[in-house]
Amino acid sequence: MLSICDLSKAYAKSQQLAINQLSLELKRGEIFGFLGHNGAGKTTTIKVVAGILPFDRGTVLIDGHDIKQDAEKAKRNFGYVSDNHIIYDKLTGREYVNFLANVYGVGKNDRQERIDKMLEMFGLKDAYDASIKTYSHGMKQKIHIIGSLVHNPSLWILDEPMTGLDPQSNFALKSLMKDHCKEGNTVFFSTHILDIAEKICDRIGIISKGSLISLGTMEQIKQNSTQSLEDLFLSLANPATQQVVCEKCGATQGVSAKFCKSCGADMRAKADKGAEPDQGGML
Ligand SMILES: Nc1ncnc2c1ncn2[C@@H]1O[C@H](COP(=O)(O)OP(=O)(O)OP(=O)(O)O)[C@@H](O)[C@H]1O
Ligand SMILES: [Mg+2]
Repeated sequence: MLSICDLSKAYAKSQQLAINQLSLELKRGEIFGFLGHNGAGKTTTIKVVAGILPFDRGTVLIDGHDIKQDAEKAKRNFGYVSDNHIIYDKLTGREYVNFLANVYGVGKNDRQERIDKMLEMFGLKDAYDASIKTYSHGMKQKIHIIGSLVHNPSLWILDEPMTGLDPQSNFALKSLMKDHCKEGNTVFFSTHILDIAEKICDRIGIISKGSLISLGTMEQIKQNSTQSLEDLFLSLANPATQQVVCEKCGATQGVSAKFCKSCGADMRAKADKGAEPDQGGML
């Protein structure tokens, strides 16, 4: 569904890579949580995938369509919720959502049922005909979410969508994510809310300094560890305490370890790989 291969990007005038050789495959029907500390590279990755930012190296395929070479087809296949909710605020909610439905060529009957369901779930019916500039931050976020799903995209990309939503709307959003996946679609979202990630994600990926440092199901990521996701995240995402797993015996140790402290295996090959992704567990 989404295939990111060897992706690298540096911002102009920056010496550092904001994304560093990142590879990731998302399957149909999964909810994938993208975690990482502030400045880790989540938004940059998401904006590259959505075709908003250029990149220097690698490929991004959405449902087989290359975001660079075949941008229009790739863009038809996803819905995107940005982290800033800057949307056309001169329009009413109804005008905004219908504008997007028209852009994607969604039929009148098809769109209505979907929109009504979401307006109900988010309690936005009464404000639907009001100008978006009169909306609160959370209301803008909700109309943005509704607009992103109006064409029923096979890939739904959301950048920190839970931030600023009240508990009821967060619940509605989680239900929408689960329903969307049950229909065979894919959800790719970034979040700092670890207990939500732990509860709803089929897999998570942790990014640090532009590289994936952990990837897998919760069980795989917590392998050999009794720590909560929060503790694990705090140690993984902190470069000073990053861990690697011995491929031979499964023991965990600091990223600078040359030999496994349990079985003596040579860890240098693993450490040399840096943060190259390794499906299923810590890297
Ligand atoms: N427009 C920009 N120009 C230059 N550097 C940028 C720009 N936007 C982001 N960066 C840098 O790229 C890196 C990744 O930033 P990014 O916004 O992707 O992080 P993030 O993981 O989304 O963080 P947050 O959790 O705070 O949203 C950071 O080092 C940041 O300083
Ligand atoms: Mg961000």
